[in-house]
Amino acid sequence: MTLTVTILGATGSIGRSTTDLLAQHPDRFRVGALVGGRDAVALAKLAREMGAQFAALADASAGPALAEALSGSGIPNGAGESAVLEAVARDADIVVAAVSGAAGLKPTHAALRLGRTVALANKESLVCAGDAFMRDAARYNAKLLPVDSEHNALAQALGNGPVSDVAKMTITASGGPFRTWTRERIAAASATEAAAHPTWSMGMKINIDSASLMNKGLELIEAHHLFALEPERLDVIVHPQSIVHGLVYWLDGAVTAGLAMPDMRVPIAHCLGLGDRLTIARGRPLDLAAAGSLTFEPADEARFPCLRIARAALADGGAAPTVMNAANEIAVAAFIRGAIRFYDIADLVERACEHFAARYRTAPADVDEALAIDAEVRAWSLEATPRMRAAG
Ligand SMILES: NC(=O)c1ccc[n+]([C@@H]2O[C@H](COP(=O)([O-])OP(=O)(O)OC[C@H]3O[C@@H](n4cnc5c(N)ncnc54)[C@H](OP(=O)(O)O)[C@@H]3O)[C@@H](O)[C@H]2O)c1
Repeated sequence: MTLTVTILGATGSIGRSTTDLLAQHPDRFRVGALVGGRDAVALAKLAREMGAQFAALADASAGPALAEALSGSGIPNGAGESAVLEAVARDADIVVAAVSGAAGLKPTHAALRLGRTVALANKESLVCAGDAFMRDAARYNAKLLPVDSEHNALAQALGNGPVSDVAKMTITASGGPFRTWTRERIAAASATEAAAHPTWSMGMKINIDSASLMNKGLELIEAHHLFALEPERLDVIVHPQSIVHGLVYWLDGAVTAGLAMPDMRVPIAHCLGLGDRLTIARGRPLDLAAAGSLTFEPADEARFPCLRIARAALADGGAAPTVMNAANEIAVAAFIRGAIRFYDIADLVERACEHFAARYRTAPADVDEALAIDAEVRAWSLEATPRMRAAG
């Protein structure tokens, strides 16, 4: 049977890894809709190559450019929110949710509401509105399959074992490009240095989050929702080789772990396979003898305060993770623009969490509420950013 796969965020890093896999298995998959943000040329080229059934851009103003780039292809297309939702509504067996940031909430949730099988890369969906997403996945009989390598490894290591038999789950962090840097050196780091990830090839936003370890914080929150584990049963360990991705510690002392080369096609293939294993052409097999040694060390929350802040947001619950994520998105964009320095990211996020703490004690009831909080915190953070710059 041929499965139809729709990709939200098709032109991004996860989107490209997905289309690479789909192209390797033409008998198994056909491409449904492809959705991008604003790059009409890239989306049109991909849609033509993959024979997509529909193409949509979130940016309404890019519609004419997309229509022109697809002219003569016969591929129906559109732009703006309604076109994105139309893309989601088209028939699909699997929807890969790989938009970057809170922009991914609405289309990902729309796929859930349709009862789709969703391969979830957009961790922000669970960070910003995890209770609502998990509740609605159950309500609409949708399946959420974790694409994030750590969560995919945890799901595989967990197997059919009951979460009640789990003592704790650990996700690994490569430690990012600043793992061995002093605090002073990190403080002066540029966006280019922060984006130079040692083991993974990813989009810009997640690269910066990996350098600050905010990405690990987001992943703890994601794991909390996906596996229904309390914060006390979740932790992070630094593992620079990025080969062990997630570990499940059982009550009897046994530990099962998910290992693979750092290649996002491995967890994506696990999701797309729906229980079958897909071969990956040009994938480097894991060679433990060649790897030599696998090392582990504790995460240093003094040099990487974003991890501490994210842990606190997870422990606080309510809308704290929603607030934290919005402030972080603004801060990371400001850092990429060169408007603020590296540790200003953590400062802004922590100040936002403090500022909104009393206001948002309960978790967003639905995606609209999460997005309203997100918008308010973004506006506040944008105000705060130039002040921080002046102060610095
Ligand atoms: N990259 C990884 O290895 C990795 C691993 C685990 C999890 N993830 C997660 O996967 C998600 C995607 O990461 P990425 O690294 O693939 O990001 P990315 O390379 O920046 O790609 C983002 C994709 O989303 C599209 N997009 C942006 N705004 C949009 C909007 N409003 N509506 C629809 N599409 C929009 C972009 O299109 P344009 O380029 O046209 O704007 C692009 O196709 C993130 O949540 C990330 O945390 C990534």
